[in-house]
Amino acid sequence: MTDLSGVFTPFALNGLTLPNRFVMAPMTRARSPDGVAGDDLARYYARRARGGVGLIITEGVWIDEPSASYMANVPVLGRPDQLKGLGRIADAVHEAGSRVFIQLWHAGFHRASLQLGADAPPVLSPSGVAPDGEVVGSPMTDADIARVIDAYGRGAREARRLGFDGVEIHGAHGYLPDQFLSTLTNHRADGYGGEEGARARFAAEVVAECRRRTGPDFPIGFRLSQWKLWDYSARIADTPRVLAALLSPLAAAGVDVFHCSTRRHWDAEFEGSTLGLAGWVKALTGKPVITVGSVGLDEALDTRHGRRGEVPLASLEPLLEQFGRNEFDLVAIGRALLANPDWVAKMREGRAADLKAFDPRALTELF
Ligand SMILES: Cc1cc2nc3c(=O)[nH]c(=O)nc-3n(C[C@H](O)[C@H](O)[C@H](O)COP(=O)(O)O)c2cc1C
Repeated sequence: MTDLSGVFTPFALNGLTLPNRFVMAPMTRARSPDGVAGDDLARYYARRARGGVGLIITEGVWIDEPSASYMANVPVLGRPDQLKGLGRIADAVHEAGSRVFIQLWHAGFHRASLQLGADAPPVLSPSGVAPDGEVVGSPMTDADIARVIDAYGRGAREARRLGFDGVEIHGAHGYLPDQFLSTLTNHRADGYGGEEGARARFAAEVVAECRRRTGPDFPIGFRLSQWKLWDYSARIADTPRVLAALLSPLAAAGVDVFHCSTRRHWDAEFEGSTLGLAGWVKALTGKPVITVGSVGLDEALDTRHGRRGEVPLASLEPLLEQFGRNEFDLVAIGRALLANPDWVAKMREGRAADLKAFDPRALTELF
């Protein structure tokens, strides 16, 4: 039988002890009318907590900034009733014996996909252009940048006040912080654009503000990816040198853990090495890392080609080999945990044969 004892050891993250190495990946549900998370959402997370996952990262939650959102029914760190709903998630997960981070989200230029009225909040992005050059709003002014950074910081402070154990800044998949990191969408000629350190400045200032508003002992994660929602082959870094130059300001600003989002965790990131993205980030920054992407599944996430059939289950051997080589500290599970709230318990009990396949056609029922 597969030896999982290593991934069932505790892990300490800036003073927070996680009972095992399994993390629930952040997954948008869009089930929070008017931005208010209901009891159904708290129950959904509590089921996964009872199922043994050591840490839950909530779905992306809009920070309290009118330009952040491009999707309805996503929770918001805004009004008191919205905060109260989120607080119920923290309480429910803790009662069920797990830990929970909230994912802080700003969509940047994705807001341009909405039909916006003349007096609607603006579409903000580093340079006001999409990767294909289409004009999508206006470049962020210094005042916009300061206001958005403040909203991230307030979000982190509220998260701590509501009882969350940490925050994760969503800097992956082509959302606002990633739009600054990427040369495809950041053409600025001021201190927020140009070489890697300048492109990382916005994200680093977001991290620093979250740190300032929460204190030194509050875990802060940063999620990054090479891939974008609209382009799976896009990259923020073609070489380890570029990756290191982008991430070192973030590490210096106070990131406790980098969450390295890939579609397949076993893919080699750069030529000449078998290391995946998480392995590289761990080696280059010296910080703990979370790996993710098709763990226990035989087919990568595909948001662009609609719903297909069942995704077959796969062995954890490639993951355990990476763990044995110390290439990651924590591992996030997405779709497999939607289909199996008790995925971690079943793995621990050697009952992998009882797991259900993930079927994207049943996504709305997997609640
Ligand atoms: C329904 C769904 C919603 C998602 N929403 C988010 C999100 O809000 N934030 C985020 O960073 N990633 C999001 N993702 C990506 C997942 O966190 C994860 O990286 C991806 O599903 C790959 O992991 P898996 O192969 O284990 O499913 C979402 C994925 C799915 C399937």
